[in-house]
Amino acid sequence: MASFIIEGGKRLEGEVVISGSKNASLPIIAASILSGKKTTLYNVPDIHDTQVTIKILKYLGCKVKKTNGKIEIDTRYIKRNDVPDYLMREMRSTVILAGALIGRFKDASFSYPGGCDIGARPIDLHLKALRELGVDIQEEHGYIKCSADKIVGGNIHLDFPSVGATENAMLAAVCAEGFTTITNAAREPEIVDLGNFLNCMGAKVRGMGGSVIKIEGVSKLHGAEYTIMPDRIVAATYLAASAITGGEICLKNVNPRDMGAMLHVLLDMGVQLRIEKDKIIQKAPKKLESIHIVRTMPYPGFPTDIQSPFMALATVARGTSVFIENIFENRFQHIDELTRMGADIKVEGRSAVVRGVNALQGANVVARELRGGAALVVAALAANGTTTISGTEFIDRGYENIEKYLLECGAKIRRE
Ligand code: UD1
Repeated sequence: MASFIIEGGKRLEGEVVISGSKNASLPIIAASILSGKKTTLYNVPDIHDTQVTIKILKYLGCKVKKTNGKIEIDTRYIKRNDVPDYLMREMRSTVILAGALIGRFKDASFSYPGGCDIGARPIDLHLKALRELGVDIQEEHGYIKCSADKIVGGNIHLDFPSVGATENAMLAAVCAEGFTTITNAAREPEIVDLGNFLNCMGAKVRGMGGSVIKIEGVSKLHGAEYTIMPDRIVAATYLAASAITGGEICLKNVNPRDMGAMLHVLLDMGVQLRIEKDKIIQKAPKKLESIHIVRTMPYPGFPTDIQSPFMALATVARGTSVFIENIFENRFQHIDELTRMGADIKVEGRSAVVRGVNALQGANVVARELRGGAALVVAALAANGTTTISGTEFIDRGYENIEKYLLECGAKIRRE
């Protein structure tokens, strides 16, 4: 098992070019299946989760060519519409392939998805949305078998604006007969990116980014070229990494408009920001201020994915910060590890009260999931002495070359 060894206390200064979004890439790669043609995608991050998605596409019979951030996917010769258990278990977002396979073949079989252990992560909303479109769903021997004579447009109401369920509904509905309306849809920028890509392939999707998405089914799609949006969570992680060291950082290839909730929290903590069209320049003070209350919420609220890296910031801020995790019930696993590093954090149900300490101490800690792992990297950058973070495979799920970018900005980090 690999580890990161980080010697803390180095001020992070420099430039980072932000990679394409993981959470946009996964459904967009899946969506390429729908066209039955060739698709070229740019700005795809080279991370574990995109590698797994490509592995599944190859298993299905797609031809995939990958060069730097560009992937060419030829979906003309797909031979299968099942995703085996060992691949489904590699990550949660494999469930997104269901909507794409059903949309193309009206038939798909897959097992329950895997992924980071951050909560129960049921898929009932995904299945309910597919049923609304006329899909019959049977569960047999741990597999979910979906089939339909035809996919017909319908009215899908999501009890919660689930990102994945919204994406699955969109994927299954774009080639359905008639109109589909998704109400209480997720409004995340990654949903907008997926909708834009689908429209690039000839789909008729309107309203993405709002809570009502309307889809007019089309009989066929064509191939497309598309550039994936920047990763707003990776961008915010680098802002946190520099802020905790009192550093100065310039992020390129970002979309600041998608990052409002996170940038407001950073401003409240005392950083200075200069924002340009696709650039953010941040200058952090020597000591950050506490955050008051951060509640994770669906977009445009504060993203659950950045709760833990920002909690790392709060551990050394002046005063007390409160975090309330409303999205995933098990997303506090980084707290025990931060406590090992000297953080003062009390948990009460879904709330964590963080009292800022003067300094963190280097320690041996374990990353147990992707963003919690990123939080430990952020904390280690500011800690006195050396921190060893094992479980780097979780961090690699979402961050491309993280140690390279941190090194370039002056951090002392190596992988062992
Ligand atoms: C996506 C993101 C993840 C992010 C999350 C919330 C990807 C690949 N992952 O995950 O990084 O943290 O959105 O912004 O895009 N739920 C149900 N039933 C369902 C589906 C979800 O109860 O059928 C619940 C979940 O348990 C959770 C909440 O809804 O409590 C949000 O989940 P959802 O928005 O679906 O997250 P994901 O799409 O899995």
